Amino acid sequence: MKIKNRHRKSFALRCCATMRSPLPIMVCSMVGCIMIIHFYMVSHRTDVEKSQARLRQISATRELGQTEEESFQLPPPRSRRSPRAIKRRGPRKPPTVIDEFLDDSSELRSFFFPHRRTAVDPSKEGNDSMHFYPGRQWLDTEGNPIQAHGGGLLYVESTGTYYWYGENKDGPTYQAHRKASARVDIIGVNCYSSKDLWTWTNEGIVLSGEETNTTHDLHKGNVLERPKVIFNDRTGKYVMWMHVDDANYTKAAVGVAVSVSPTGPFEYLYSKRPHDCESRDMTVFKDDDGTAYLIYSSDDNSELHVGPLTGDYLDVTGDMRRILIGQRREAPAVFKHRGTYYMITSGCSGWAPNTAMVHAAETMMGPWETMGNPCAGGNKIFRATTFFSQGSFVVPLRGLPGWFIFMADRWNPSDLRDSRYVWLPVGVGGAADEPLEYSFGFPLWSRVSVYWHSRWRLPEGWRGFR
Ligand SMILES: *[C@@H]1O[C@H](CO)[C@@H](O)[C@H](O)[C@H]1NC(C)=O
Ligand SMILES: *[C@@H]1O[C@H](CO)[C@@H](O)[C@H](O)[C@H]1NC(C)=O
Ligand SMILES: *[C@@H]1O[C@H](CO)[C@@H](O)[C@H](O)[C@H]1NC(C)=O
Repeated sequence: MKIKNRHRKSFALRCCATMRSPLPIMVCSMVGCIMIIHFYMVSHRTDVEKSQARLRQISATRELGQTEEESFQLPPPRSRRSPRAIKRRGPRKPPTVIDEFLDDSSELRSFFFPHRRTAVDPSKEGNDSMHFYPGRQWLDTEGNPIQAHGGGLLYVESTGTYYWYGENKDGPTYQAHRKASARVDIIGVNCYSSKDLWTWTNEGIVLSGEETNTTHDLHKGNVLERPKVIFNDRTGKYVMWMHVDDANYTKAAVGVAVSVSPTGPFEYLYSKRPHDCESRDMTVFKDDDGTAYLIYSSDDNSELHVGPLTGDYLDVTGDMRRILIGQRREAPAVFKHRGTYYMITSGCSGWAPNTAMVHAAETMMGPWETMGNPCAGGNKIFRATTFFSQGSFVVPLRGLPGWFIFMADRWNPSDLRDSRYVWLPVGVGGAADEPLEYSFGFPLWSRVSVYWHSRWRLPEGWRGFR
């Protein structure tokens, strides 16, 4: 095709250069006409191709944005309840749906934590292939439940591979003392790899807990939560940031580890309080220009802090802004669409689920505005509890602009290793339905929606979309 074009062009040039008789002029203008028509058709075809691709994307994402209803009946009050529920509410108060959720003897237990036989299993061919079932057990390619809680994804473009990092909580749940919340000893950070976001291969523990050295940050009696990995283009290293704490959550620090490979092993470097402030739930976000940011809950979880990392991503800089002051948000997950930054957060209620909020900003350093609850579909209780889960990360869907996956954890405080994953599509588009007061009735931001689906899949062929 290209060669033919070039040939035609050189012929046209040659004949235009020797305009002496009418015949060459006629030939010349004919060739010119053909060329114009040809170029018009080529450019028209790419336009058509583009709009066809766009249409394909729109129809592919239509299903993602359909809301699905969900209903369940609260069982009648019982005289005997588990000690956990009584402890939470006192013996007299009627149980709430959250109590039912947290009560491991509830009749609704299998609704929130479906039985192992319903597990999502990538080794099984059939109808359910490639389908996400929020709340069901999710097996890796070896048939074991995925252990990557409070996690995040990293996409490595050169190999087209996603890496899922998260807490390995595959140990017994216990309380360190009477007032402490349920915990599992540190085992380490697990890594899984996938090309389709559904079939996950266990790459093993890429950062291990410490068995014997009690002064080590990652000693098994401490806390390691919400590991996130970003790649530094300048140093060529994979950098992991995580929440590091003692069993009573009084250390409130971040930890940093580094590796030359996405599958580790990661070398643990150190922990610190960033900007000399408490840091509990946290995430890191790498912007298009290569600047990375740390976002963390601080000041007794009453506010979030955001600040850029150093060029090598191994530390914070001195620059920091306090955001969402007094709003008591945690579990931040940041994403970006068309130059606007969005963040989904949860409230602070321990392992119990609560209402998510979405926030938006023109720059990472803020100001950040709260837009409201992004959850759509399900039912009122589902939306008020983030579908009984807490967010941990938002994954951009390459080739589907404006579409993301919300990754969340459905914590199971009576057996933390059996906590489930709730992955749902997120769409950004249309005007927000809650205009801010100062915007005089004009919504400033696009609406962000997390759509409930009990069963869903990514559009067929989405990896080929551009
Ligand atoms: C496949 O899905 C259809 C519709 O959901 C269902 O009726 C059918 O039983 C399924 N088949 C298998 C083998 O699961
Ligand atoms: C225990 O961990 C601390 C902190 O990382 C380290 O300084 C010390 O050398 C370690 N001790 C041993 C015996 O490895
Ligand atoms: C945590 O707090 C309990 C009681 O409040 C105390 O007994 C225990 O020593 C503390 N543990 C740590 C690691 O600080």
